[in-house]
Amino acid sequence: MSIRSRAIRGAERCYSLNVILSCMNSDYRQLIREHILDTDTFIRAVFSGEQKGASVPWVRVVVRPVELKGQVHWQFSYFDEKKDITKNYLDEAASKLNELLAFPFRNIFIESGAGNIQVNFSKKGKPLLSRSKPSQSVTDLSHDRHKDRLLHEENAAPFLQAVGILTQDGRIKADMRRKYKQINEFLRLVDETASFSAWAGSPIRIVDFGCGSGHLTFALYYYLHEVLGVDAHVTGVDIKSELMSRLRAKSEALGWDQIEFQTGYISDYQTDVPPEVVIALHACDTATDDALAKGIQWNSKVIVCAPCCQHELQAQLAKVELPDSLASVFQDGIFFERMGDILTDAFRANILRIMGYRTDVTQFVPIEHTAKNLMIRAIRKSQPGNEKWVEQYRRLKSFWGVTPYLERLLGEEYKKKL
Ligand SMILES: C[S@@+](CC[C@H](N)C(=O)[O-])C[C@H]1O[C@@H](n2cnc3c(N)ncnc32)[C@H](O)[C@@H]1O
Repeated sequence: MSIRSRAIRGAERCYSLNVILSCMNSDYRQLIREHILDTDTFIRAVFSGEQKGASVPWVRVVVRPVELKGQVHWQFSYFDEKKDITKNYLDEAASKLNELLAFPFRNIFIESGAGNIQVNFSKKGKPLLSRSKPSQSVTDLSHDRHKDRLLHEENAAPFLQAVGILTQDGRIKADMRRKYKQINEFLRLVDETASFSAWAGSPIRIVDFGCGSGHLTFALYYYLHEVLGVDAHVTGVDIKSELMSRLRAKSEALGWDQIEFQTGYISDYQTDVPPEVVIALHACDTATDDALAKGIQWNSKVIVCAPCCQHELQAQLAKVELPDSLASVFQDGIFFERMGDILTDAFRANILRIMGYRTDVTQFVPIEHTAKNLMIRAIRKSQPGNEKWVEQYRRLKSFWGVTPYLERLLGEEYKKKL
């Protein structure tokens, strides 16, 4: 008989659906243990309150299953008035649960695919059990939990709480849903190109240029270390020094020692150990080119950028005499601006292809959130100088009569290849 069937059989001995009965102390403890330790059906358990005249060191303890490095663990989140501590247990889960059951909590609620269990204690300390139908089927639940997200409430609760996305009781805050989606979309898009799980066992260095508030930098670090078990060293670089100090303090508080934040311009950034992965998301104007140039010159394996505002090429286009047949395209300022954006990114993608990177351009954040929603993803695959890409590049340059900023940045050695 499976643990689940035994749990149900045990439960039926004590009570029937939605009926409250009193139960022997040992029965309810055994029932709770069986429900929580059954990874096929367990959803969540909440221990809260204090029995009359007793005291418990936490306001609430929440237990939930989480998948870490491909294995289901039990995550215990201990909440008191001021802070919370989250621990993930595998082999120790049963003994940690026994410790919890020894405390005089007033209410215990178990949500499970095998049925929900509520235990409340009377003023005299007598356990009263009730049972209700499962609120969701286990199939629905696993679909709901993951929704194809790489970081979610189950595998990333400590991180999502640390960046203010998840509430203390494990729900995504309404005003942070967009950020939550953006983080997951970013991870999915980068992982599709970099295939990070293939790096497990070999260290990987990543630089995130123009990291700003660091949400995505931290997310990437957490995903690599805690979910995939990749030995990644991540550096965030930004010109905002106060922000970098705050992010350093945050990473120290989290105890994450393989992530660092440096203040400075992308163009000035130097390192003795070139990173395998270069990222630049919405770094302003030519800062994206600074990042791309660094990645190409370091021969980084993966380069990913989401361009932001682009003015440099527009200034060149404004001086060029364009064919009359394009007059309508440039009649309205917004067309002119967008044409500048498209050309800038087309040149960037073209240069990456010439340098031997298999490159694609995809949508990053949905268009309703920002018009700056492209992502250029590149992975080094071949030798530089493919004639097809060189030819395309030269024709585009000659048609528009412009020289991309990235070409000028790259320096003579690389310019010869274009
Ligand atoms: C729009 S924010 C994007 C932040 C983050 N990458 C994201 O996508 O959430 C752009 C960041 O790039 C930084 N930045 C712009 N130009 C830079 C440069 N040349 N060197 C370093 N940081 C730069 C800004 O300070 C800002 O924090």
